[in-house]
Amino acid sequence: MSTDKVSVHGSWASRWVFIFAATGSAVGLGSIWKFPYMVGVYGGGAFVLVFLACIALIGVPVMLAETLIGRRARLSPANALKVLAVEAGHSGRWSWGAFAGMITALLILSFYSVVGGWSLDYIINMGKGDFQGATADQVGDYFGGVISNPWRLTFWHTAFMLLSAFVIARGVVAGLERSLRIMMPILFVLLLVLLGYSMTTGHFMEGVHFMFDFNPDRVLDGLLAAMGHAFFSLSVGVGSIMIYGAYMPKNASISGTVVGVALIDTFVSLLAGLALFPIVFASGLNPSEGPGLMFVTLPFAFGNVAFGQLMGVVFFVLVAVAAWSSAISLLEPMVAYLVERTRVRRLWVTFWLAFTCWFVGLGTVFSFNIWKQAKFFVSEESGFHLYQWGAASGLDFFGVVDFFTSRIMLPLGGLCFVVFAGWIMGRGAVRDELSMRSPVMFTLTLFLMRYVAPLGILIVFAAQLWK
Ligand code: PHE
Repeated sequence: MSTDKVSVHGSWASRWVFIFAATGSAVGLGSIWKFPYMVGVYGGGAFVLVFLACIALIGVPVMLAETLIGRRARLSPANALKVLAVEAGHSGRWSWGAFAGMITALLILSFYSVVGGWSLDYIINMGKGDFQGATADQVGDYFGGVISNPWRLTFWHTAFMLLSAFVIARGVVAGLERSLRIMMPILFVLLLVLLGYSMTTGHFMEGVHFMFDFNPDRVLDGLLAAMGHAFFSLSVGVGSIMIYGAYMPKNASISGTVVGVALIDTFVSLLAGLALFPIVFASGLNPSEGPGLMFVTLPFAFGNVAFGQLMGVVFFVLVAVAAWSSAISLLEPMVAYLVERTRVRRLWVTFWLAFTCWFVGLGTVFSFNIWKQAKFFVSEESGFHLYQWGAASGLDFFGVVDFFTSRIMLPLGGLCFVVFAGWIMGRGAVRDELSMRSPVMFTLTLFLMRYVAPLGILIVFAAQLWK
């Protein structure tokens, strides 16, 4: 039956290529840029602990579900859910869940590309030696200057989007492997070098305590944020891992591979946090600085060590590559879907989708400058307003897109996929795809997908609503 399907978009040459591609998708700005600033904003240890629990109990089961759905159907997410649901005697409407996920991926890409653009900009700034010997305040002002200029941000946002669209237009399978095989290990080594530097700052233990001291009072504050970020970080809930699963060879073991990818991703996040926070404390920066945290901390560190200029350039190149390989996986599900559904060529599908994401991304560009005062969901003493110019509270455009995608759509998408794999596809199909040797492991995995992950997601939503 469906076990011998082949994908029209190509397939990975081996299990290793899937590992590289999935790791490339997972490891990106989420681990290096977003994780540390969220840990800072949500007060440290409590966030980290909830994040780790969500990765293990919810993120990994969802990732397994996505991979096995993708590989079984060998189609883009919306078509995969439709075909498998109908095969199992259920409604084809399940595909709507995946469709919503694919739209969410495009929304994420709209702001992801803007931040990816910042890292391109910083390659040049580091190379010019702008940070040599700079103080923390100077680096902070520099970042403020960069984001206050809409033209500059738009330029780099455009460059980043073009780079991502280029690979997609050629087909992911051809484009990704070679670059990632070299770049990912170097990124890892450079993070270790940064860790080494932060150990010499004299504030290393302060960083460790900040990240791992558990503060129960703050758990509820960051609960939904941590769960949403677990999805974001693993690239699950939108169909990115599912489409990569669709290109996975039949003989590769899903469970071992998925757990490996999740471990690497989590490790990189922790490493980034451990490298950054000691520098934050040593330089007197504020850990709850927000989205600028990495762009202020690291240039300061590189500006004040031997060979910092060179290392800084290499580092931002690698961050840009990590971001680029994630951006590709955000665009691919919808591109694959439209290639399957229409007669339009991949090149044009890619162009129009990338253009749309770019256009929406301008909203994020402007959130940091000309639309800084535009606030949505404002709750003030005078009551609740959907929109108010210049309000002190509320979310800017970037905040709204980030909140809607990471905290609402990703968990809902994940819920749809695990429930689908756990309850709709049928036990036989799941067993066949997972092909685990040990029946105990299979039962445990099914238990995680059927009960633990779905209930976990619902409990976090409920806790947030009744907080
Ligand atoms: N996981 C990527 C990162 O951490 C972002 C991403 C989210 C990619 C969702 C694909 C899907 O940077």
